[in-house]
Amino acid sequence: MNKHESDTGVGGVPPPRGYTSTPGGSNSLTPDILVAGRGLLKSYDAGRVRVLNGVDLEVRAGEIVALWGASGSGKSTLLHLLGGLDIADAGELTVCGLDPRNETHRIELRRQHLGFVFQLHNLIPDLTVEENLRVPALAAGIPQAATKARVRELAESVGIAHRLNHRIQDISGGERQRTALCRALMNSPKLLLADEPTGSLDEETGDTVFNLLRHLVRERGIAVVLATHERRFAEQCDRMLHVRQGRIEGSGSSGGAK
Ligand SMILES: Nc1ncnc2c1ncn2[C@@H]1O[C@H](COP(=O)(O)OP(=O)(O)O)[C@@H](O)[C@H]1O
Ligand SMILES: [Mg+2]
Repeated sequence: MNKHESDTGVGGVPPPRGYTSTPGGSNSLTPDILVAGRGLLKSYDAGRVRVLNGVDLEVRAGEIVALWGASGSGKSTLLHLLGGLDIADAGELTVCGLDPRNETHRIELRRQHLGFVFQLHNLIPDLTVEENLRVPALAAGIPQAATKARVRELAESVGIAHRLNHRIQDISGGERQRTALCRALMNSPKLLLADEPTGSLDEETGDTVFNLLRHLVRERGIAVVLATHERRFAEQCDRMLHVRQGRIEGSGSSGGAK
């Protein structure tokens, strides 16, 4: 499963803290650079609300990067650009070797390369845990028979196998978020985009979900971009990038991890 462990030290030496961008400054895309963004700008309301103000960002295979910042600083907007859910006004962006501005690339990104976890999990409440887990596989055209073992394996890995036949509306917040985590991993993504995945959970359940997230992605060699306003989670990531007023503070010199 560990497809990308070679140089990022999954299970071994962690990636360097305070990682700086490629020497020479160019965005030459080596295979382990999953996100390369430069000068990303995004405004709303016909340019009146400037949300991203020139973001530079690189994410490598196997690392967990926190986008840490106050509410309104632009974290979700940046994640949406990375996931092709919204398009930058200007700047360059490559995600898993694809261009999120191109519709065909966006579809490929979502079906094959990316997993998403959101604060409000976005599960389908009337369906069971198992049916929700199958949704990404269905969208990717994978037959049901081929997903049965994977559904069970993922559910077991986060301790919700006993809930597979329960409807989302009947399980707890922590179980829903663990289901959302499994759903995001269903199609074996290279990159997981997590937007405040612990934001609607109490402290203890939040800790459990965060630790599971970290454990699962380490085990599978997946890269994660985690948007959070909670410093205690950001500090446990490989790099902590401070998002402030639509910029990443210190980018270009130091990652800012403490
Ligand atoms: N679709 C939109 N239209 C107008 N303003 C928006 C839109 N989306 C986000 N914003 C504004 O952009 C800013 C950053 O939002 P967001 O990226 O959600 O921040 P964060 O996730 O860090 O809380 C906020 O001031 C928010 O009100
Ligand atoms: Mg947000």
